Amino acid sequence: MGWKPDRKIKKPLYTQIAEYIENGIIEGRFPVDKPLPSERSLADLCGVNRSTVVAAYSELEANGLIERKKGSGTMISRDIWDLTKKRIPSWNRYIEAGTFLPNIPVMQRIRKQTDESDLINLASGELSSDLFPNEFLRDILAANQFTSNLGYDHQQGNLELRKTIVDHVRKYREIVTEPASVLITSGAQQAIHLVIECLLKPGDAVVVEDPSYSYSLPIFKSAGLKVFPLTVTKNGINPAGLIDLHKKHQIKMIFLNPIFQNPTGTLLPYKQRKEILDISSKFGIPIIEDDPYSLLSFSDDHPATLKSMDSNGNVLYISSLSKIAAPGLRIGWIIGPTSVIERLADAKQQFDFGHSSISQWVGSQFLSSDYFDVHIHLLREELRKRRDTLINHLNDYFGNKIKYYIPMGGIHMWCEFKRDIDEILLLEESIKEGVIFAPGSILGTRKRCIRITYGRATEEQIHQGIRHLFHAYEKIK
Ligand SMILES: Cc1ncc(COP(=O)(O)O)c(C=O)c1O
Repeated sequence: MGWKPDRKIKKPLYTQIAEYIENGIIEGRFPVDKPLPSERSLADLCGVNRSTVVAAYSELEANGLIERKKGSGTMISRDIWDLTKKRIPSWNRYIEAGTFLPNIPVMQRIRKQTDESDLINLASGELSSDLFPNEFLRDILAANQFTSNLGYDHQQGNLELRKTIVDHVRKYREIVTEPASVLITSGAQQAIHLVIECLLKPGDAVVVEDPSYSYSLPIFKSAGLKVFPLTVTKNGINPAGLIDLHKKHQIKMIFLNPIFQNPTGTLLPYKQRKEILDISSKFGIPIIEDDPYSLLSFSDDHPATLKSMDSNGNVLYISSLSKIAAPGLRIGWIIGPTSVIERLADAKQQFDFGHSSISQWVGSQFLSSDYFDVHIHLLREELRKRRDTLINHLNDYFGNKIKYYIPMGGIHMWCEFKRDIDEILLLEESIKEGVIFAPGSILGTRKRCIRITYGRATEEQIHQGIRHLFHAYEKIK
């Protein structure tokens, strides 16, 4: 047996060994009446630990291909060619083979910890449930006024909701559009996914901000896109960097979250917004404006969305109710030229046959109610208080050991430690102390940075969370 597993490829060694044995059985290289190599000798032949062979044999046994009996070694299953015998598929191999990539392990770990433990949560990019319009939603649901059709709705989403969104974006985001140019999606996330799947092809070059929410999404990689990060500083991205990237890589699309960006909390200054639109028009590169946070401004100055400044039709505009009402409604929308919207709607119909009628109805009632303004006002006030509390406690505990951008809206704050720290080690220590945050390395290329979200925790929890974070920071010195 001259074969050895390949350590350079990503596939786990035990899977490679299991596949090798399975193919050998099918091709007759391992005769049915002879024992397979013992665990120890196979480990020696393959140059791996015995535990790796044990894992490979366990998988083959679970799949019904081999039988293991104490004393008589490992035999090929006598029923292997008996089609009536029930076998379990090699699920692990299917799991590893899919083209849609899983979340990166740190992200999975954060998700598991926030789902399953009582940690103070400064990691999840969402509001705490007391900030949802709970009473309003309970009242309209209790009033039994739901009369909409419960059949499959229009493929772009419920017309009433689309009309409401048209009014909403005209009033709050200075965007002039019409229902035919709106597609209702399952959150902003699905809108981003639809754009990637329908308007781009493998090998296309796209620009995302670094750091950014988009950077953290494996959906770009799953689609085979080449992702080029453009650095976000306190003053946003540098438009000249965009031109350089375009000259080198023929950029096909630009993904931006210009207002109270996740994770930096920054607002792209007006001048750069204008310059980026000019670049987009000059080179004909579409911009995907992802805008879940623009209504959460802490001042009365409402920054203009790129879409509202776009006279050419270069911007596809995405937003949702997740950060201004409740993410569980899963109401998002995308606005753009009707030909694009129809293409995306056709794909959405294939994916899920449209969004829940009840949720669309609730979303429409909420957005068109008089209470909407009251809610947004209360939300902004509360988030501003939480931001200030965060700043106060960061200053008290960390003093000049940390630098941060002061967010003028939204729910995220980006912090950079002045000394070299390993943010993953800090994350692990922090979890032990009782707090969790998002390490910068999952959101971009910059070192020594973390994202703290102040939308999810109460002021008291923010205080305790920063205290725990500080203890963890001291421990990893
Ligand atoms: C910038 C940005 N875009 C999109 C999303 C997805 O949000 P949703 O699908 O809940 O609307 C998020 C969530 O955190 C986000 O921060």
